[in-house]
Amino acid sequence: AVLVLLGPPGAGKGTQARRLEERFGLVQLSTGDLLRAAVAAGSPAGLAARAVMEAGQLVSDDIVIAILRDRMAAPDTRNGVILDGFPRTDAQAAALDALLAETGQQVTAAISLEVDDAAMVARVAGRFTCAACGEGYHDDFKPPAVAGRCDRCGGAAFTRRADDTAETVAARLEAYHAQTAPLIAHYRRRGVLETIDAMQPIDVVAESLGRIVVPGT
Ligand code: AP5
Ligand code: ZN
Repeated sequence: AVLVLLGPPGAGKGTQARRLEERFGLVQLSTGDLLRAAVAAGSPAGLAARAVMEAGQLVSDDIVIAILRDRMAAPDTRNGVILDGFPRTDAQAAALDALLAETGQQVTAAISLEVDDAAMVARVAGRFTCAACGEGYHDDFKPPAVAGRCDRCGGAAFTRRADDTAETVAARLEAYHAQTAPLIAHYRRRGVLETIDAMQPIDVVAESLGRIVVPGT
């Protein structure tokens, strides 16, 4: 299966992709995570992407498509992938189709996580991540059960993203509406679009997603 998760910053794409990964053995491919790794490694792509990401704008299609193509070549993607944050432009959607066609695949479902913009700013601004295992948390909506300890791995170090400031989130929302939201109509025309009310609690959204991946569950 090739699942595409669409939705603005803070919609829960990363949170839900990780759930699907654990539950169904699919592999999460987050272009945001891949780009942040490139920035941290100081690779040429990372050097080019850094300022663009910190401004909340989209990194160039060339860079993102190359990164995604490399990652899709790894053998662990064979049982199915959840694309988290890709495609984000028409050109990326076309590149994805071409890449999948090489192995006789196509997008199984594109799932739009629908939320309201105002709530997104609050979600993103309170967000932090376990430095050891990557589990995502939120100051108000999903604090660790024991303060300062990761529920999943017991780690005690957490990180916050450089682009999770109120100004940058506003720019990211704008980029979403201008460049990415049109993909919803694109996948609807193809008959593969599903929509989920992602204002609901994390567990409820996860159940709705599970029913899309395995109908009847
Ligand atoms: P990326 O890393 O993809 O960020 P994003 O799209 O802005 O999405 P987020 O990671 O902010 O949100 P999410 O939907 O994953 O929400 P999460 O699950 O964390 O991209 C970053 C940058 O990289 C871009 O701005 C761009 O520059 C570049 N980039 C990446 N891909 C690109 C591409 N394809 N082309 C060009 N440039 C690209 O949840 C958020 C918070 O809310 C968490 O704290 C979580 O615990 C909480 N939460 C989640 N669900 C719920 C819920 N249902 N109820 C309450 N709280 C919830
Ligand atoms: Zn952890």
